[in-house]
Amino acid sequence: MRPETRAELARRLHRYLETGSTAMADEVFPNPVSAYTSEERLALERRLLFREHPLLVGFSGRLAAPGDYLTDDDTGMPILVVRGEAGTLHAFANVCRHRGARVVDGCGQGKRALSCPYHGWTYDLDGRLIDVPGEEGFPGLSREDHSLRPLPVAERHGLVWLRPVPAEPDTPIDVDGLLGGLAPELASYHFERYHHFETRTLRPRINWKMAVDTFLEAYHLATLHRQTVAPIFIGNVCAADRFGPNHRMIAVRRSFAELHDRRAAERDFLQHTIELYTLFPNVVLVHQADHVELWRMFPGSTPDDSTVHLSLYVPDPPTTDKMRRHWAANLQLAIDAVDREDFRLGEGIQRGFRSGAQDHVTFGRNEPALSHFHRSLRRALGLE
Ligand code: FES
Ligand SMILES: [Fe+2]
Repeated sequence: MRPETRAELARRLHRYLETGSTAMADEVFPNPVSAYTSEERLALERRLLFREHPLLVGFSGRLAAPGDYLTDDDTGMPILVVRGEAGTLHAFANVCRHRGARVVDGCGQGKRALSCPYHGWTYDLDGRLIDVPGEEGFPGLSREDHSLRPLPVAERHGLVWLRPVPAEPDTPIDVDGLLGGLAPELASYHFERYHHFETRTLRPRINWKMAVDTFLEAYHLATLHRQTVAPIFIGNVCAADRFGPNHRMIAVRRSFAELHDRRAAERDFLQHTIELYTLFPNVVLVHQADHVELWRMFPGSTPDDSTVHLSLYVPDPPTTDKMRRHWAANLQLAIDAVDREDFRLGEGIQRGFRSGAQDHVTFGRNEPALSHFHRSLRRALGLE
C-alpha cells in the first residue's frame, strides 16, 4: 500500500473515531430475499460468474514448484492446475481424452507426469499425451489432438486466476483489468513470496453470497463476536473504497485508537488494521500484518448451501513445530469466529428466508461494502 494511501486512510479512520462515525453508502439498500433463495438466480450466477468470469484460485505459493498441482470441482468444470517443467502454470479440464475419467484427484506436490487411473493414458506436466498403453488398439491416434484441454489461466502479483471454460486462443485473462485499480496495491504486498500453510473446506447451509456478506461490515462485531473479535477490533467503524466491482474495507484494531501520534498511525498502519478486499465475484482476501486468509465461496448444490475454502498464507515457510502450532492456532481462530459464529447465525437467516416473513433485507448506510457487492453482482448478471 502506498504511503500516501496509508496516511489518508489513517486520517480518515481517526476522523471516524473522533466523531463516532463510519464510512456511509449514499443510501439504504433493500436487497431482495430472492437473491439468496431463487433457483433461477443461482443458475444465472453459475453461468455468468462461475463459468464465464475469471476466478481467483489462490496464491502462486500454493503451486510453487514444477509438478505441484491442485484440483477443483466447485464450478461445474473439473479443473486441474499444475505447474509445468519450465515453471509455467497450466490449467486443464481434469478429463482424460480417452474416455473421460478424472486424471488426477486432490492436490499435492512434485508430480512427474499425469497418469489416468482408468487405463493409464499419461500426460506430461504441459498436458501433452506421452504414453498410451496398448497403443496398437488405437491405429492412427494423433497424440497431439488428445492433449488435455487447456483452460485460460493467468498468474500475476502472486495471484492465480482461471476461467473454467475451454480456452479460446485470443481470450487471455486481463488480471489488472479485473482488479479495477487495485493491482499496484495488491502487488505491493508481494503475495508471490507467501507460502501456503493449509486450506480447509467448510460447507455451511447458507447461500454463497451470504458467506461473502459475513465479511462485509464491521457493524456486527460488538454483538455477534462479543467474546472473540470484539476484544481486538472496534465495531461499526470502517473505511470503504470501491475498485470497479471489487472493494476494500479497512477495520481497526483497538490499538489504533490509542495511537495518538498520527505519524506513528500512518507508519504502522498495517499493524493496527485489517484489510478486507472483496475480489469479485467470490473471494474475500483478508490481509493482516503477518498473514493472509483467502476465503473463496462457491454455490453448493442448492441456493441454500455453499462450499467455502479458507486458505492460510504465511510469509515464511513453517519449518519448526512451534511455527506450525502458531499458524494452526491462527487458522483455528479464524474458523472459530467465522464458522461457529457467522455461518451458524447465517444458517438461521437462510431458514428464515424460506419462511416468507419478509421479501427483502436492509443494508444500512453504515454497511457500504454490502450494497456495493450486491449492486456489482446485479450489474454483472444484467439485472440492472
Ligand atoms: S479414461 Fe483415461 S485412460 Fe481411459
Ligand atoms: Fe463476523
